[in-house]
Order: sequence, then C-alpha cells, then structure tokens
Amino acid sequence: MCGIVGYAGSRQAGPILLDGLARLEYRGYDSAGVAVLSPGGGLCVKKTKGRLSALNELTDSGRALDGVIGVGHTRWATHGEPNDVNSHPHVGENGRIAVVHNGIIENYAEIKKFLRQKGLTFQSDTDTEVVAQLLEYYLSGGEDLISAVYKVLHRIEGAYALGILCADTPDSFVAARKDAPLIIGYGGNCNFIASDVTAIIKYTHEVSYMDDGEVAVVTKDSVEVYDALRRRVEKPRHTVDWDVSDAEKGGYEHFMFKEIMEQPEALRATIYPRVKDGRVVFEELKIGEEYIRKLKKIYIAACGSSYHVGMIGKYNLERLTRIPTETVLASELRYSDPLIDKDTLVIVISQSGETLDSMAALREAKSRGARILSIVNVVGSSIARESDDVVYTHAGPEIAVATTKAYSTQLAVLNMLGVYFAGLLGKMEPEQYDEIVAELRLLPEKAARVLADTERIKYLASRCFNHESVFYIGRNLDYALGLEGSLKLKEISYIHSEAYAAGELKHGTISLIEPGTLVVALCTYLPLFDKAMSNVVEVISRGASVVALTAEGRAGELSGTVEPENILTVPETHPVLEPSLGIIPLQLFAYYIALQRGCDIDKPRNLAKSVTVE
Ligand code: AGP
Ligand code: GLU
Repeated sequence: MCGIVGYAGSRQAGPILLDGLARLEYRGYDSAGVAVLSPGGGLCVKKTKGRLSALNELTDSGRALDGVIGVGHTRWATHGEPNDVNSHPHVGENGRIAVVHNGIIENYAEIKKFLRQKGLTFQSDTDTEVVAQLLEYYLSGGEDLISAVYKVLHRIEGAYALGILCADTPDSFVAARKDAPLIIGYGGNCNFIASDVTAIIKYTHEVSYMDDGEVAVVTKDSVEVYDALRRRVEKPRHTVDWDVSDAEKGGYEHFMFKEIMEQPEALRATIYPRVKDGRVVFEELKIGEEYIRKLKKIYIAACGSSYHVGMIGKYNLERLTRIPTETVLASELRYSDPLIDKDTLVIVISQSGETLDSMAALREAKSRGARILSIVNVVGSSIARESDDVVYTHAGPEIAVATTKAYSTQLAVLNMLGVYFAGLLGKMEPEQYDEIVAELRLLPEKAARVLADTERIKYLASRCFNHESVFYIGRNLDYALGLEGSLKLKEISYIHSEAYAAGELKHGTISLIEPGTLVVALCTYLPLFDKAMSNVVEVISRGASVVALTAEGRAGELSGTVEPENILTVPETHPVLEPSLGIIPLQLFAYYIALQRGCDIDKPRNLAKSVTVE
C-alpha cells in the first residue's frame, strides 16, 4: 500500500520519478524501483531493497535512466520478502511489460498456477508479478494493450493501484485502480499518476481522483479515462490547496490520526483475502485439522498493545475452540519456566516483528518444542523469519509510535484464527459460524461508521483532558479492551491511567474512587451489560465522573445513569468482534486529549516504535 508515481512528458522521467518517490517516503516502505520506456524501444528497469538512497545510487538519482515516460514504486511487502527480486517494477517474461502495484492480488496463487501450466516462469515470490505475466500472456495471444489490461482486471481479485508500461506503446503508460488510491496530475505539457498529492504537488496542483474500476491512458499531451465497462469518462479536475509540508501526511495533522482513519481499509485488506465462499481460510498456514485436534494448549506471547490483542484472544479462542489458552507478557514468559511442549501452539503477536522480548519468548518456546505461529505486520521481519507459520496483517506501514491500525488488524487475524480453528474442530453451530463470518466482512464498513462521527469524542475529550488519573473498567472482553484504551491514553497524553476488571474493583481499588474521578466504563460486551451497569452505579455512587461506551442499541438503558453527552456508542456486531469497533472511540479519545494537552502525539517521550532492547 505504499507508493506509486508515473510521468509522461518531455523531460527525463528518472529524476522526476525519484523525486516523487522521495515525497512518498513518509508512508514507509522496504524497497523501491523505477522503469522507463527507452527511446530505442524496450524497458529500462532499476530496483532494489532498502532505502531510496540505494535506488538513487543505482540510478545516479534517476539521471542514468534515458526516457521521458516511466513509473516508480515504493513497496510495503505483503507477499514475498523485501529483497531486490521482489521489488517493483515486475517485468513479464518477454520483457514487454513493466508493472508497479500497490495493494493485494488475493487470487494470485491460482493465476500463477495457471500461467505456470502455460509454461511461464516466475522470478519473484510476489502476488504482483502475476499482473505483468498475465498481461504479456494476453498480448502474446493477440490482444491490444488496453484489451489485455481489461482482461487482467476482470481476472484478478483484490485491491490494486497499477502503473503499467508497455514497450510496444512508447508514448504512453496505463494506470488502473480498485480499493487503493491513485490520482492523475495535469502538468500542462506533461501528465502524472501518483498514490497521493505529495508526490507531484511540486509540478502541479491540478488533479483528478481515479475511481474504482477505472483505467487511464496517459501521454504527455493527453489523459483518457475509461470506466469498468471501457466507456470513456470525463474526470472532474480539482485544484489542490495544500503545500508540500501539509500534504506530507496526506493532509492529516498526525500520522496517528491518519492511521486511525485508515483502519477500515486496513481491516478490509486483512480480512477479505481470508474469507472465501463464506468460510475463513488461511492459505498461508501449514497446520490443519490433524494438528489442531492434537493441540493441548495455546500460549499467546506479546508486548504492549500486541499483548492486549492477546488478552482479547484468550477469551475468544477459548470460547470458540475450547482449547486452553493463556496470554502472557513475552518479557515474563521467558523467565517463568513455562509449561510449553510439543503439544503447545505459541502465537507471537508483533507489529514490527523485531521486539526483542517477543523474539526471546519465541526462541524460549521453540526450545521447549512448541510450534510458533506469528501475527506480524512487517513482511520478512525477524520474528516472521523464525516462526513455523506467519500470518501477515495488511495494515500497511504504521509510522506513529502508538499503534492503532496494526492493533486492529492483529485483532481481526486472531479472531479469524479462532473461527478457523473452531471450524476445523467442528466446535461451532453452522448458524453461529455464518453469523460471525458475515459480521467479519461488515467490520470495515462498521468501523468507517464509527470514524464518520469524531466530533462527539472530540467534545468529550475537551472536557476530560485535565484529569490526572483515569480508570478504564469493564468485564470480560471489555476488560481486555480497557487495557488498550488505557495504554493509548498513557502513552500519548502522559496521564496516569489503569484498566481494571470491573468485578474486581470492590476488592480494594475502589478506595481510590472519589468525587470527580474520571472512569471510562466499557459496556460493549453485551452478555454482561447488566453487570457492567451495576459497576457504573457503584462508581457513580462514590462521586466518579463516568464516560460510558456501549453498543448503539443500549445507550438508552445507560442514559438514566450516565449523562447522555457522556455516552459513546459503536455499531453492534457479534460479541466476539465487538472490541474491534470499541477500540476506535478509545483511540480517538486518547488522541484528542493528547492534542488538547499539546503532546508530541506521533513521537511520545521515552518511547520507540519498535523496542529492540531488553
Ligand atoms: C503500542 O502503542 C506501543 N507502541 C507498544 O506497546 C507496542 O505495542 C509494543 O512495544 C509491541 O510492539 P510490537 O507489536 O512491534 O511487538
Ligand atoms: N502486494 C504487493 C507486494 O507485496 C504490493 C505491496 C505494496 O502495496 O507495496 O509486492
């Protein structure tokens, strides 16, 4: 989901492409590349793992590339380790097509199998390469370029923003998009495509936003856009009033807010490829029913927010699979002489895949005979490489230190694993299975609904930012949810906070509740709603000021006890999945409070994005 730039004009394309990619660096990436149409015919492709500096060195900052039309790419790997071969552009076997791609081709495996059966050979481990190879396959069959493009787009499933060069059409390049952003830039005597305005704002402020299913044919003098049915469309043009510094975060003030807002897209990219024909599928897993049936115990090991995902996972995996599941802090597991053996599955959760405590826990578990399944966001990271099975989240690069979209996609994967294992074991009634799967597919849309109304949360935060201690209370999944809500507040606003199992409060800690104490009461786990309500009454009777979070249909039952303006709601979903929606208001609540307090939201004091020390 990283970055694409395309240029067609009269100037050398190389330097313009490298400059555009540099302006997309903030989006995070692991490799980069460029391709230009050579004046003498053919394609010139340069690509490399690592930073743009390596690509600049390889291409003399683009000056070594001779050609006035080209495309560039920064990659955030989803399929295939970050290395030179897996970097984009990918070239077809006959060397006629070069493709750059942002997104995921969900059915790449079947297409790759089909093309291999036709005798084609593949260079990379990526999903993207099938686009280049399939285009050349259709060209070889006599299709013209645009017909071949449409045939490919009708064949592939998933999300894509594509830039395509064809050596047989030396005066243009082709662009296409579905569920991944791509804009067109009009430069007068040149034209562009880009993942976002940042890449090209230096050259033009006049842009169009491509819509899903559209295909654009771009030359230095013209842009022709066609819809999914290949009908010509006239795209409205917009004048961008951002300057480069604003556009850097895509117009958002902080990476954290941008990444909170990206959660619907991240959830879709993570869930959809793993829900096929009404079933949860994990094509990347080597373990199956036989292994799961022999399993005696599941450990979940992680740190920080990833640990909080595991705390939700403990409840849900046990509830769904009836396999004993224990969630432990990675930094504790390694020194606790844990009861781990060959009949134990250890799930290691890590956004960065580099957290040293989690790596150490992985190695400790492995030394005791456990099988390791890791849930990781960074492809090819250390934890991924040392695991027996890896399930990648497709959150895209997460820049803010405080995790949001990675947490959400980790949680989605862990819940899907619970459903998948339970399905293998026959532990779920078909109706329950179907309901959870249906709700899984609706999560991105419901998350977007929560994000559509941030004003109420912003208003609440404006009334709460002066508190110096905040309690998050909840039962069962709400307790686990509160752990993450509390950490979000602590790490970016520096306000002390703790999450407490609501039923445990009366066993001591309630002595701290006094008039004016701020309590965030989580009442989204509806099977225990009445119990949660009684805890709300309990703290109010001691003078607490309560902010409550519940499902949309239950706000009325709370309004007699909690001031209506202090009640936040999220759409109702299956109880197992409710925390995936409940976390969003808590992320925003912490964000707006930190904003009010003038904190350094993206880089909080004392914190690092990946803790690679013990
Ligand atoms: C979460 O906002 C923090 N950045 C931190 O707790 C983080 O979750 C923890 O350090 C684990 O990181 P990982 O997921 O990359 O292993
Ligand atoms: N899925 C493609 C890959 O892994 C593209 C990733 C991206 O969006 O950069 O190479």
